[in-house]
Amino acid sequence: MYSHADLAKLQSQSLKMQGHIRQRTFSPEMEKTLRRFSSWEVAELIFKINPSTLRGRLAADPSLPQGLVEEDGRQRWYSLDEINELRRKLRIKNQPLMPPRPAGKRAIRAAIANFKGGAGKSTVALHFAHAAALDGYRVLCVDFDPQATLSHSMGLSDVAEEFTVWGIMARDLTRETERMNNAAAGAESGTALPRRKLPASVTGMGLSDLRVTDFIKPTSWPTIDLVPSCANAAFVEFASAQYRHLNPEWSFFAAVSRYLDALPDDAYDMVIFDCPPAIGYQSMNAVFAADVLYIPSGPGYWEYDSTTSFIGQLSEALEDLGRFPGALPDGATPEKMFADVRFLLTRFEPANDLHRAMQSAFGQVFKSHVTQHPIEMTRAVEQSGRFLSSIYEMDYRQMTRETWRRARMSFDRAYDEFRATLLGAWDKLED
Ligand SMILES: Nc1ncnc2c1ncn2[C@@H]1O[C@H](COP(=O)(O)OP(=O)(O)OP(=O)(O)O)[C@@H](O)[C@H]1O
Ligand SMILES: [Mg+2]
Repeated sequence: MYSHADLAKLQSQSLKMQGHIRQRTFSPEMEKTLRRFSSWEVAELIFKINPSTLRGRLAADPSLPQGLVEEDGRQRWYSLDEINELRRKLRIKNQPLMPPRPAGKRAIRAAIANFKGGAGKSTVALHFAHAAALDGYRVLCVDFDPQATLSHSMGLSDVAEEFTVWGIMARDLTRETERMNNAAAGAESGTALPRRKLPASVTGMGLSDLRVTDFIKPTSWPTIDLVPSCANAAFVEFASAQYRHLNPEWSFFAAVSRYLDALPDDAYDMVIFDCPPAIGYQSMNAVFAADVLYIPSGPGYWEYDSTTSFIGQLSEALEDLGRFPGALPDGATPEKMFADVRFLLTRFEPANDLHRAMQSAFGQVFKSHVTQHPIEMTRAVEQSGRFLSSIYEMDYRQMTRETWRRARMSFDRAYDEFRATLLGAWDKLED
């Protein structure tokens, strides 16, 4: 017979193992570090220019960052900061290398969501964040999933639970309740409105004093920050139900959206949400805050079946928000409008007839909502995952070059389409 204590023992053994893996994989300080990128990668894959053009520019201007030369070879290797400096300083054929970003608008937000477990959400979120950062964008990721896959793969494994989406929600509850109470007291008829009192277990956490930036952690990528999750945050769903009960007029689904609205418009370019495999308080916050909904799905029939239920249930949950009793503080309607919705096939094998048949079924049903470029099934994801890394973080010399290149091309094509979708959505955003 086994109790919760036995499960806890099994978990602690496993955590020890995870610690060993991190120690072997990351630097001796157990901190994840970002590799340098070769001049071949910088020219051909990142700036998409001729390597000889880049060499010529660097030779002509010694004030440009020159990278490090590897001991045995001729290649130079650049840090992401150096790459970004080159991006700011160079113009090629009179064109800047900076990626497009509409002026005067806030960062664009995309939720990678599907309640099907293992659909590839975290893999897609991680790879899109890395591709976007290599493309010159400043990225904020929000990990909404208490499995914390994205946080762990970004090197954040010791996070206190108050600095997760749960902290953001509890902070929002206290602040919103205070705002409602003040509004009630200020109004002429204020005395008629009930004042909500939150228990000390919520107000005593001191969350309402936390600044917006307190929830944001740096990662090993200088232009990617993260609002992390942690395994202890699994209770959020229970806590949120209780919070709703404490103040039924609290627009619980808009907490993260309000939080992100408080960031300066120019702090980031893209915000990417990794969602849990469930429709609940956390994923509703992700979806409500998102401008674009990106739905990854495996290429099998049951995944298609499950993706179909997901959009049905999400639609019902969003429709329910329309019956929300309170008003949103800025007078906005709780009717959620997305600038775009896309389905992305993952773990796709181009030579597999069944996968191709599913791809065409997706196309027939969801039409232009299906992305052109699925993400291919590749051993490179498994291999890089063993090093707690994305394919972008893996040094191509550590794998068969062809395997690395094929995988990278597949993610690059999917990212290019993602970027085009976000640029289209950005146009639709009000200033
Ligand atoms: N393109 C790919 N090629 C090979 N393996 C992949 C690919 N994409 C994802 N995987 C593997 O599939 C598994 C599930 O992927 P992932 O964790 O990204 O899914 P998820 O939707 O985030 O899962 P969860 O619902 O549990 O959050 C992982 O082991 C991952 O390494
Ligand atoms: Mg995941």
